[in-house]
Amino acid sequence: VERTFVMVKPDGVQRGFVGDIIKRFEQKGLKIVGLKMLQISQELASKHYGEHQGKPFFEGLIKYITSSPVVAMVLEGKDCISLARGMMGATDPKKAAPGTIRETFGIDIGRNVIHGSDSAASAAREILPSF
Ligand code: GTP
Ligand code: MG
Repeated sequence: VERTFVMVKPDGVQRGFVGDIIKRFEQKGLKIVGLKMLQISQELASKHYGEHQGKPFFEGLIKYITSSPVVAMVLEGKDCISLARGMMGATDPKKAAPGTIRETFGIDIGRNVIHGSDSAASAAREILPSF
């Protein structure tokens, strides 16, 4: 079976959506195989979002993701990478499909509540060694 890396971002933690978000994954039948709250370091953030280095929103993105604790988890289940991404909805909450996590809880593209690996290669890279 497949595994994916999911992270409730600082805005999602601060605004109190951790329980609701976890519940959605549990209801979908995905298995939580790792879960923890942590403060993302500058170094980890730059590595995690390395593909976006040089883009105009990069610095703001790093500042945001390191601003306060996140809740990181590893989910397991058949096709869970695309399944979890689908449940999250489009990157921009304003464009996310009704009922998706980002549409329900997100405010704007820079405050979109949740991260999920976008491919098997990303999942392998993103799942923290401590999991
Ligand atoms: P993640 O799950 O966080 O990786 O989001 P994603 O895969 O849906 O989008 P992507 O990897 O392309 O972008 C990473 C993050 O950068 C997004 O979640 C946004 O918060 C932010 N981002 C992406 N594009 C833009 C943009 O055009 N403007 C701003 N302000 N932020 C952006
Ligand atoms: Mg991404």
